[in-house]
Amino acid sequence: MIILGIETSCDETAASVVRDGKEILSHVLATSAQMHIKTGGIIPEKAAREQVKSIIPVIEEALREAKLLVVGSETHNSQPTTSPKIDAIAVTYGPGLIGSLLVGVETAKTLAYLWHKPLVPVNHLVAHIYANWLTPKYTGLSTQGSGEPKLPAVALVVSGGHTDLVYLKKHGEMQYIGGTRDDASGEAFDKTARLLGLPYPGGPAIAAAASRYSLPATHHQPFLPRPMLDSHDFDFSFSGLKTAVARFYKENPDIPQEEFAFEIQEAITDVLVEKSLRAVKQYKAKTFLLAGGVAANSRLREKFELRISEACCRTVKDYELRLDFRVPLPMFCTDNASSIAACAEHLYKPVPWQKVEASPNLSIMN
Ligand code: KG4
Ligand code: ZN
Repeated sequence: MIILGIETSCDETAASVVRDGKEILSHVLATSAQMHIKTGGIIPEKAAREQVKSIIPVIEEALREAKLLVVGSETHNSQPTTSPKIDAIAVTYGPGLIGSLLVGVETAKTLAYLWHKPLVPVNHLVAHIYANWLTPKYTGLSTQGSGEPKLPAVALVVSGGHTDLVYLKKHGEMQYIGGTRDDASGEAFDKTARLLGLPYPGGPAIAAAASRYSLPATHHQPFLPRPMLDSHDFDFSFSGLKTAVARFYKENPDIPQEEFAFEIQEAITDVLVEKSLRAVKQYKAKTFLLAGGVAANSRLREKFELRISEACCRTVKDYELRLDFRVPLPMFCTDNASSIAACAEHLYKPVPWQKVEASPNLSIMN
């Protein structure tokens, strides 16, 4: 199928055309992130206003780039006329900011009605996982792994508002393993960055500061807690880390920012790696799928790569860990519409446009 994906759950306005759930024919993204740097966080109403302005140009650009805007179908008075040669429209319906979600959902509903196309509502968090099915030849970069990821898999979704571990038995059959009890890992990056005086979004800012830390990782002395590392479940908790950073920073103002940033990154990634690999072992997964904005973090990617390649060389009790590790290219870890289209292909459930509604508090299991 050829699917037009639309994503507007946070501050991005994105549209992509994807063939067969993997081949990216176009990938367009507008963001108001620059605007939010000044305020140190997203102002939902401002984000939505920007999305209202950019949604039609972004969709047009995605269709044009995919060579699907037939001559004569160019917009006239901003009204697309002729139906493009797509099989369906997919749109993020949650979770996310209500104003932002409404922009994408209402636009998608209107286009589905005008063009007589099936409309597939997509869960944004599940879509992050399906970024691992994309084969981004389009970027000119090589793909991670080869062939489609094999199931069953364990997936860790780490985004700005969510940290979830799930077991993916087959497409459409998912089981919840664990998740955060309070702040998400992305939120921990964002909030601790602010404490260090680093800009929003905090994840890339902490990663950049940490990369300036000159001591080799093996010589670094940890000084922050690794929350819930030893708990006998698959849950996470990151709000205590924020408190620990605030206290430690106040008591030790001489610690260089880059050392602090490195330690924060270590504390967050240590717990994510340990708990995920325990889940992989317990569920005997063939593949481990990393996804979501925090998956763009190179230290996290490196730690998983290292641990999985070490583990592949030994037999863990009765379970031989021959694990395939997949993580999307960084540009497909953060919010984008190609993942939305890929997800819709694999979990194809069209819904009459009249019944599609934005759902800001959707969980990964809905
Ligand atoms: O998935 P995403 O783009 O949007 C949501 O669905 O929330 O994730 C955004 C989160 C933010 O918290 C941001 O700080 C974090 O991903 N992030 C990173 C990196 N790039 C983005 N965290 C750590 N390292 C990065 N390189
Ligand atoms: Zn996201």
